[in-house]
Amino acid sequence: MTNANFGAYNIEDLRQKAKQRVPKGVFDYVDGGAEDGIALKNNRDAYKQLKIKNRVLVDVSKRSIETTIFGKKAAMPYGISPTGTAGLMSFGGEAGVAVAATKMRVPCTIALNAQTAMEEIWDVAGDGNLWFQVYMWPDNDLSMMQINRIKSVGFETLIITVDGPVGSNREYNKKNGFSMPLKYSPTLFAQLLARPGWLIRVLGQHYVKRGAPTMVNYPEELISRITDPMLKHMHTKTDNLTWDHVMRIRDNWPGNLLIKGLHSAEDALIAKEKGLDGVVLSNHGGRYVDCAPAPLQLLPETRTAVGNDFTVIIDSGARRGSDLVKAMALGADLVMSGRPTLWGAAVAGAEGSFRALEIFYDEMDRVMAQLGLNSVADIGPEIFWNPPDWVPQRQQITRAAAE
Ligand SMILES: Cc1cc2nc3c(=O)[nH]c(=O)nc-3n(C[C@H](O)[C@H](O)[C@H](O)COP(=O)(O)O)c2cc1C
Repeated sequence: MTNANFGAYNIEDLRQKAKQRVPKGVFDYVDGGAEDGIALKNNRDAYKQLKIKNRVLVDVSKRSIETTIFGKKAAMPYGISPTGTAGLMSFGGEAGVAVAATKMRVPCTIALNAQTAMEEIWDVAGDGNLWFQVYMWPDNDLSMMQINRIKSVGFETLIITVDGPVGSNREYNKKNGFSMPLKYSPTLFAQLLARPGWLIRVLGQHYVKRGAPTMVNYPEELISRITDPMLKHMHTKTDNLTWDHVMRIRDNWPGNLLIKGLHSAEDALIAKEKGLDGVVLSNHGGRYVDCAPAPLQLLPETRTAVGNDFTVIIDSGARRGSDLVKAMALGADLVMSGRPTLWGAAVAGAEGSFRALEIFYDEMDRVMAQLGLNSVADIGPEIFWNPPDWVPQRQQITRAAAE
C-alpha cells in the first residue's frame, strides 16, 4: 500500500472526490440522514461549537496519541464503525477498509451486512483489531448460529446494533430508486450509466467475480441478494426485541460485548448493570431518529451515570482530529465513524481508506501539540473555552489550578 494523498487534504476532500466517482443514488445513500437531516447537521454542529484553548510553552516533543481499548493498543483513539456498504464504494471494499485499519493500528468493525464474507476479511486483516457487528433476530437458534460463526472465525469484540426496531425514513433513497431490495429502475439506470468507471470497477467486477452483491454473512436461511424481495417473516421482524435477547447473546459470547445505537445515559446504565462491556452512543450518523441528540452531547451525563470503569464509545459526526480530542475531553474511550473511510474507499480502495485514517491521525497529533498536550491521558474538560451548558462547567481559575 502506498502513502499517496490522492489530492485529499481533509475528510471533506475525500467526500467531494467520492461524489465524483460513485452513482448519485449510492453517494446519497451513504451521505444522507433521515427525514430533514436535523441530527445529521447537529452531529457536526455539536463538535464545531466547542472552542478549545491552548497552553503554551509546554515541551510536547515526546507526545503520543496512542491509546488502549479492551487491552489492545491503538495508534489513536479512533475506530471504524460498521457500515454495510464499503463493497459498493470499491470492489471488496470491506476487506480494504479492514486492511487500512490494520496498517494504521486502529479497531475496525465489520458489519453483518457486508458483501464480503467475514472469513475472507479475517484472512487479510485478522492480525489487526477486527470487531464484528450484528443485528439480532427473534429466533434464538439463528442468532446463536450467527454468534458461533463469528466466534469461530476469531473475533473477540462483538457489537449488537439495537437502534432499528423498524426501518428508517430516508426519502431521498426512494426518489433515487435506491431502496432495498434494489430494483433497476430507469432513474437508477441513468445514474449508473453516468458513472461508467464505477460500473466497471465496482459493480461489473462484483458480478463477474462473485455474482450479484449478496448478504454473505447471514445464516443460510437468511442469505439474500440485495435485489431479492425482503424476507417477510418472523426472523427479520425486529420490533419485538428486548434486553432478554441481548442477554441470550451475553450468555454465549465470552468476549467483549457492546450495544450500539443508544441515545440515553439511562440505557447505558442498564447495559452496565446487565454485564455488558461497553456501549456505543450513536444516532447511526443521523440516519434513524432525526431529532436525536448528538452522541457528543450525551457523553458528559453518560460518563457521570456509568462511572469510569465502563467503556463508552461514541460515533456520528467526527471529521477532524480535533473532534477526537474534544470527545476524549468529555469522557469517551474511543471515537468511531463510518463515512470517512467509505469515502476514502470510493476514491482509492484500501489506500483511500488509509488516507482517511492518516488525516485523522495527523490532525489529532497536530492539535495535541498545539494545545500543549502530551498524551491521551492529559486530555480533560479544561481545554474548553466558555463551553455550552451540556459540558461540565469548570471551576474558577486559580493559580493552583493552573499548574
Ligand atoms: C452507508 C452506511 C451504512 C451503515 N451500515 C450500518 C450497519 O450495517 N450497521 C450498523 O450498526 N451501523 C451502520 N451504519 C452506521 C454507522 O455504524 C455509524 O453509526 C455512522 O456511520 C456514524 O456516523 P458518521 O460516519 O457520520 O460519523 C451505517 C452508516 C452508513 C453511513
